[in-house]
Amino acid sequence: MSTTALITGITGQDGAYLAEHLLGLGYTVHGIKRRASLFNTDRVDHLYSDPHKPGVRFFMHYGDMTDATNLIRIVQETRPDEIYNLAAQSHVQVSFETAEYTANSDALGTLRLLEALRILGLEQTTRFYQASTSEMFGLAQQVPQSETTPFYPRSPYGAAKLYAYWICVNYREAYGLHASNGILFNHESPIRGETFVTRKITRAVARIALGLQDDLYLGNLDSLRDWGHARDYVRAMHLMLQQDEPSDYVIATGEQHSVREFCERACAEVGVALAWRGAGADETGVVQAIDAHLLARARNGYGPAPALQSASGHGGGHGGGQDSAEPLRPGKVLVRVDRRYFRPTEVASLIGDASKARERLGWEPTCTFAELVHEMVWDDLAQAQRDELCKTQGFRVPEFRE
Ligand code: NAP
Ligand code: GDD
Repeated sequence: MSTTALITGITGQDGAYLAEHLLGLGYTVHGIKRRASLFNTDRVDHLYSDPHKPGVRFFMHYGDMTDATNLIRIVQETRPDEIYNLAAQSHVQVSFETAEYTANSDALGTLRLLEALRILGLEQTTRFYQASTSEMFGLAQQVPQSETTPFYPRSPYGAAKLYAYWICVNYREAYGLHASNGILFNHESPIRGETFVTRKITRAVARIALGLQDDLYLGNLDSLRDWGHARDYVRAMHLMLQQDEPSDYVIATGEQHSVREFCERACAEVGVALAWRGAGADETGVVQAIDAHLLARARNGYGPAPALQSASGHGGGHGGGQDSAEPLRPGKVLVRVDRRYFRPTEVASLIGDASKARERLGWEPTCTFAELVHEMVWDDLAQAQRDELCKTQGFRVPEFRE
């Protein structure tokens, strides 16, 4: 019989990658999705098959981390061997505006799920993964951060996740639950939420290259993050639950880059060299030079991304639908700062030490920073090209900017 996993937050970035990974390992996967007024299963639709057909191993259930009876019922019905608790209000800045809700879903939601295991008498049989975060290190007390670094959260999100971390440790110690915390540093992908900084940048760069957008407003350009690929990080989640003993693990690349550097790298993918002028809230990112071949290639690049090192090929150039944005030219301002994106308390610098995961889980990241940016930009270019095509055919293209 196949192993059964229950994933909360299956419609999110990590939920989608994890579901795909576990299905690939032969698991039966149940996921919890929220009721929404629009379809919200985009990221997992490719995994879905008609439940009436034989051999189906992927199922979704309506639920919410704020609804204890619903969680108990889903756990009772699915009787999972492994639970991956990924559901969360996961946006740090939004948590300052929705602090109570963030605590309810991220902190108490975790407690509800752990209690469901106790109530149903599954604490000795079901293994539990908690999506903990490097945001718990916040105002980092050590560099790099490891499992022994003291926590200092800097947001309602960080504080809620800290409760979830400790309640998980407590249930492990009090009731013998096989419960592990993955303390994951930032991980991204082409299906990253559009309001996280990496995706916001790659999406904007693609749209700017295609002439669908003029510029990009960001907050703190100095922020330093340890960015990895979500595909690598979900492997670590699974490995943690295969260990004889539960434990807590930092998952990170050990490499740090600034938001500014992320912008430069993303622009370079479309042949634009960015230079920085001014300082603080007046700083701007300006086009310094344009590689016409690279830009043409980016504009014409339907289909899969070219190999990372071969991005200097020649393209024909089809004009890129420049009717809605000012054409790209040296001196054009692409990046501006908007104080709206500054946080009341910022986490300025994070970098992880994943030695324990390397030694005990045999886990290693496989995707480099350059490969990550490359994959994200080229995926967003394909989406921008679709939008551009719609636009040239007279269809309305929605403008999502946040
Ligand atoms: P994400 O893309 O924002 O996905 C969050 C998921 O949680 C979505 O499926 C969302 O549903 C669901 N959700 C939110 N509130 C819920 C509620 N009240 N009840 C049920 N489901 C709810 O986040 P992610 O990047 O995949 O991250 C997965 C987890 O890892 C999160 O717990 C996050 O805090 C944590 N984490 C992420 C990172 C990172 O860099 N990505 C790093 C460390 C830790 P909808 O689709 O309906 O919104
Ligand atoms: N979102 C966003 N938007 N962030 C910006 C912007 C902007 O316009 N401009 C600068 N930043 C800075 C933020 O201030 C932060 O320092 C950094 O870019 C990264 O922001 P996010 O991408 O929103 O991610 P995060 O680090 O706050 O949180 C993510 O990683 C955590 C792990 O460390 C989320 O995925 C959390 O759920 C996760 O726990």
